[in-house]
Amino acid sequence: MSSILSQTQSYPTWSSRWVFIMAATGSAVGLGNIWKFPYITGENGGGAFVLVYLVCILLLGIPVMVAEVMLGRRGRQSPISTMRQLTSEAGLHGFWNSIGWLGVIAGLFILSFYSVIAGWALAYIPEMGKGTFQGVDPIESQLFFDTLLADKARLIGWQSLFMLMTVGVVTCGVVRGLGAAVRILMPLLFVLLLAMLVFAYREGDFAAAIKFLFWPDFSALTGRSILEALGHSFFTLSLGMGSIMAYGAYMPVGTSIGKTVLTIALLDVVVALMAGMAIFPIVFAHPGINPAAGPELLFVSLPVVFGAMPGGLAVGMLFFILVTIAAWSSAISLIEPAVAWLIEKRGFNRFTANIVLGFIAWTLGIGTVLSFNDWAGFTLGDFTFFGAMDFLTSRIMLPLTGLFVAIFVGWVMPRATPQSELDGEDSLMFSLWLWVLRYICPPAIGVVLLVGLYDTFTAAG
Ligand code: TRP
Repeated sequence: MSSILSQTQSYPTWSSRWVFIMAATGSAVGLGNIWKFPYITGENGGGAFVLVYLVCILLLGIPVMVAEVMLGRRGRQSPISTMRQLTSEAGLHGFWNSIGWLGVIAGLFILSFYSVIAGWALAYIPEMGKGTFQGVDPIESQLFFDTLLADKARLIGWQSLFMLMTVGVVTCGVVRGLGAAVRILMPLLFVLLLAMLVFAYREGDFAAAIKFLFWPDFSALTGRSILEALGHSFFTLSLGMGSIMAYGAYMPVGTSIGKTVLTIALLDVVVALMAGMAIFPIVFAHPGINPAAGPELLFVSLPVVFGAMPGGLAVGMLFFILVTIAAWSSAISLIEPAVAWLIEKRGFNRFTANIVLGFIAWTLGIGTVLSFNDWAGFTLGDFTFFGAMDFLTSRIMLPLTGLFVAIFVGWVMPRATPQSELDGEDSLMFSLWLWVLRYICPPAIGVVLLVGLYDTFTAAG
């Protein structure tokens, strides 16, 4: 029997709320938490950015996530078909279908650079094992990283391997198998992060890190960084492209969507903050590492720790294995909605759908590989190809889809639908949720989007 996720006909549901929580957490917790959150926090000056990110999760991310899960459970199909069905059911204009479309495209774009970065993590596994980082200082660690980035063939090799892993799992329909693995490995990642945090506390400049992460300096905040925080709150929760909607399709009726979403968001935020608290003490203990270094932050800072730790080689290897697995379970959710749609509506079989989509994402990914070497000098505004992909997805497409979802569920869809889907919820919570979705989400997302884009282009121009 193929995976539960691949059965688009009868739509069986997951056996329990916990299975959904594990799958959705597998999607949410990934490179966004461990790699992206620390580096964009570093680039945006720390505390104030973290605060805005947390507010965005609470006020915008969580309500939109509830809406997406609800839409998915209501429609019980791929996101595009779900949107089509729900809009025609409500007698609405086809415009609303664009929610599904934008999502599928955003998923492929994100997957394109996601697999390159996951490739870096893969590349670090054998290096850890070989002892490359034994006793390295930040300069040597940086040098290793720069050498890796300059080597296109190696980068493409690792990117291709990761893409094959992703497409392989989705093709074989063993999404559930990986889900089971994630159930054991995610807690392990959690424990390992905790151990690294303790190490960072003892060996690094923990006080400086805490101050940086939690002491808001609002002068560092710009419209651009607020938009980045908003975009990241969607990115990290896997919102705005159908991942969560697709998983919602398998959620059993009668389980509380509200509680489930709160659990997932909490786990997601905790992992991100732990990663930050493990990385920044090391960064501040070594003046050679710049907190605003960008995408390389994780890959330059942590190897220094592993190189200095007793048993650091094994711990380092384990760390990058777990990061790869976290990325893997997220990548699956990036491609699955598009795959489900090609199968449902275009008559593709699972294998061809995966090959076609995987190939598109892989080809686009080459642009990201090159933007760290040959194309590093080609910039649009101040974006490289990778920067532009990230910008286009996290800071335009995801917020835009989130905005559409909030307006659709809050204002356009007949009220009876959320009411019946969220029947079991606490009635006060339901009213609060609907109020926030109607009156807070659309104007807040709209304003942040406009101001952020204006700020980005006037500053870059
Ligand atoms: N949330 C994942 C991470 O933080 C990435 C991800 C998976 C994602 N599915 C998504 C991001 C859907 C946006 C939309 O690593």
